[in-house]
Amino acid sequence: MTPEHHSIDISSQAFWDSTFDERERSFARLRTEAGPTWHAPLPADFPYTEPGFWAATTHQDIVYVSKNSELFTSAEGVAVSPMPKEPQVAMSFFLTMDPPEHTIFRKLIAAAFTPRQVKRIQHQIEQTARVIVDGLIGAGDVDFVSACSSLLPMHTVSDMIGIDQKDREPVRRAAEALFGAGEEKMATDVDSLTIMLTQVELLRNAAIEIAEARRRKPEDDLMTNIVQAEIDGHRLTNDQIGAFMILLSSAGNDTTKQTTSHAMLGLARNPEQREWLLADWDGRIGGAVEEFVRWASAVMSFSRRATRDTEIRGSRINAGDKVALFYCSGNRDASAFGGTADVFDITRNHNPHIGFGGGGVHYCLGSHVAKTQLRALFRELLTRTPKVEIGEPVWLKNTFVHGIKHLPAHFPA
Ligand code: HEM
Repeated sequence: MTPEHHSIDISSQAFWDSTFDERERSFARLRTEAGPTWHAPLPADFPYTEPGFWAATTHQDIVYVSKNSELFTSAEGVAVSPMPKEPQVAMSFFLTMDPPEHTIFRKLIAAAFTPRQVKRIQHQIEQTARVIVDGLIGAGDVDFVSACSSLLPMHTVSDMIGIDQKDREPVRRAAEALFGAGEEKMATDVDSLTIMLTQVELLRNAAIEIAEARRRKPEDDLMTNIVQAEIDGHRLTNDQIGAFMILLSSAGNDTTKQTTSHAMLGLARNPEQREWLLADWDGRIGGAVEEFVRWASAVMSFSRRATRDTEIRGSRINAGDKVALFYCSGNRDASAFGGTADVFDITRNHNPHIGFGGGGVHYCLGSHVAKTQLRALFRELLTRTPKVEIGEPVWLKNTFVHGIKHLPAHFPA
């Protein structure tokens, strides 16, 4: 039997329209419950039948579910919001697969990321970070999000795929719309889904065109490796390459962009931490980047479905029930991060954050690429723009991405 919806509301539009800190107060209360709690579905503008979801809000429960893909499947979708089935599957590729199918695709992709390619990507990231910050020095008043945060992830993903300069802006827009963060809320009504699917088509076709060109004439790039990769007799088809590129551009773009904005704001509000970091850059930037990712929790949630009746710390989960993994809550859990869980602190030395997921087979494939970008960009920003002033953020209202829409900044001459 399904229990009643919990009295603490984490489902209404009003809840998701409130601030991260206000929402965190509700999550903090849920974390004290005996086990995951049952809630009403999140808002959606189309008919759906799902009765609700279990909220995993503690660090421990999120890690447990993430690491047990046999018991908690991704194959029926990973959004917490109700989503129509078809477009979601078309867009998410191996994000919504389970082993053993998932394993084959992860291996195929991993085979393309040779040390040589990783080095090449790193070099491109460092160069692009330098050019972005060149443009900021003396720029005066700018919106940090559009003038900085959004640029490096877009160029990185486009460089990885091999997308032409002229096509990059439409690709960024498509990826953002896909991820749901371009709008005030997730694109869950029929019209916005149609627009989204048109953009998906654009991304897919761009990727397939490049893949075919590399098959005809191989180059020294990631796409060439992707079309040539082979695991257990499997190679990626055009459709699969298209789907991977859609996943890469949606998963790799807005996440890193939002983390950049949150980190900039965190450092601006804590100038003593900025000084601490600059005093030993090489020794401290690694830990600082982990804190950027924890603090930002750019992806607030994903979900799984129980494959059979089971139990998590006393909560009885039925086969087919949706279990939401609130990374944003797990990343503020004092049992994992101690009494300073709710403060930005780049000096923390124990940081088992779940910003890239709770471990397990779907752990973020781009975590190294993301961290390389954050390192490269903040090195340029902190060493070359020491007098930047940061204003008050305009927050994005969204149920999935923890976002900053605008962040006023002043870069003096
Ligand atoms: C700070 C930036 C980023 C954050 C916070 C982030 C977060 C996440 C999270 C939470 C997941 C799901 C993990 C799970 O279900 O256990 C994920 C998966 C994924 N991420 Fe990231 N990500 C970031 C950057 C990137 C970048 C830059 C790329 C690619 C260039 C990328 C590619 C992927 C892919 C392909 C998956 C699916 C992996 C799978 O299903 O096996 N991500 N990411």
